[in-house]
Amino acid sequence: MKIPPVKGTRDFYPEEQAVHNWIVDGWKRASIRNGFEEYDGPIFEYLQMYQIKSGDEIVEQLFSFKDRGDRDLAIRPEITPTLARMVNQRINALPKPIKWFSVPRLCRAERPQKGRLREFFQWNIDIIGEDSTYADADVIATTVDYLQEVGLTPDDIRVKISSRKLLSAVLKKIGVPEEKLNPLYALLDKKAKLPQDTFSAMLKEQVGDNLANQIISFTEIKDDISGIGKLVRFETGDEVDNSRNELLNCILRLRLMHSDNYEVLKYCDIDLSVVRGLAYYTGIIFEVHDAKSDLRAICGGGRYDNLLHDFGGPKISATGMGMGDCVLEILLREKGLLKLPPKQPVYFVVSVPLEDGSVFHETAVPLVIKMRKLGVNAMYSYKENISLTKQLKLASEKKADYCVIIGDEYRSGNIKLKNMASGEQKTISLKDFLENPAKFKF
Ligand code: HAM
Repeated sequence: MKIPPVKGTRDFYPEEQAVHNWIVDGWKRASIRNGFEEYDGPIFEYLQMYQIKSGDEIVEQLFSFKDRGDRDLAIRPEITPTLARMVNQRINALPKPIKWFSVPRLCRAERPQKGRLREFFQWNIDIIGEDSTYADADVIATTVDYLQEVGLTPDDIRVKISSRKLLSAVLKKIGVPEEKLNPLYALLDKKAKLPQDTFSAMLKEQVGDNLANQIISFTEIKDDISGIGKLVRFETGDEVDNSRNELLNCILRLRLMHSDNYEVLKYCDIDLSVVRGLAYYTGIIFEVHDAKSDLRAICGGGRYDNLLHDFGGPKISATGMGMGDCVLEILLREKGLLKLPPKQPVYFVVSVPLEDGSVFHETAVPLVIKMRKLGVNAMYSYKENISLTKQLKLASEKKADYCVIIGDEYRSGNIKLKNMASGEQKTISLKDFLENPAKFKF
């Protein structure tokens, strides 16, 4: 019986695994040079953890189950609640601000579609215990640092910055009751995914015609950073002013984050249509999209100042982001930016068969082991009685770059090195070769 892979999952054959490793290595490098330390948690938690604050959409997408003790558990759909739980456990011992990163494998029972699967990897960076908008700016700058490293330019991607706090202040000011805010954020987050008429009708149903029109005109505020003037239209009321100033303050901080030929701000726009689907965001939020907005979000994040408290910890501020591997990989492929690092050369040791037909494994195998101890990627045929031609064929199937041939010259301390791409062959001293195999490249 053939069992197919589960819908929305991926098999990582060596080629795909190499791409995956390259993406993850880049995420890790960017995290470390920006001052983040790696952590991880369990792949399942109590179901309740995600029901508290993640929001209805995530709860609907949970893979949940009961363990043998009848406890309700769920596979992690995100790592932010785990992070909050872990930090709360050691809150007094951890020097602030805490800057941590992780690359968890996550599961969400979404309908699989382009860029959205049921199992994926997500790069997370978070800063905990810092109120300053420098922390929000640092999360955005680290995200852009990685995206720029892989070759994405401000023409390829846009960082859309918004503020949940500003949105909530404006919504409350125009008369949306507090208890309607969370379902409203969930709907506003779906705006780009729904046909305009459907979205409008759903919004009117939630808040009435008058409020719906005002909300649409507010969320349509888009600005390049130089002209922040449009935000001033909503300059009424302290709460609105404060949250608007916080957003502008973050932008000013981002303005400082530049070096030769690189300006973080060149990637950024203010875009108040970004609201984020998750329920726990409280302040500055952002998403990165491909410039043409053909694909789903590349990443999303923001400030969540109440989550640790909601999980029984102290009132301590936090900000961070998550970037999945799926949309990123699609975009990098489209732009021709998937550049895998050159792999280590592969050597295949072959021996000329002896007169009795057997192969000189007594020499080949110890030589392979010696080479491996030197850090060289070395292989040989497990079959003892096969011809030289068959060994060379096997070497080429295994994509060897060089064959080390043990033949007659071995008696005088030499081997033949054959470049498998060009067919060129050289006789060299085995001692010299083992001193530095990398020296013999041709
Ligand atoms: P999120 O918006 O749910 O946020 O997910 C962030 C990113 O994860 C998305 O932009 C996308 O790249 C990726 N992603 C989400 N769902 C899927 C899926 N089904 N398949 C593939 N990729 C997906 C969070 O998860 C927050 N916890 C991020 C965060 C960290 N906020 C603060 N700190």
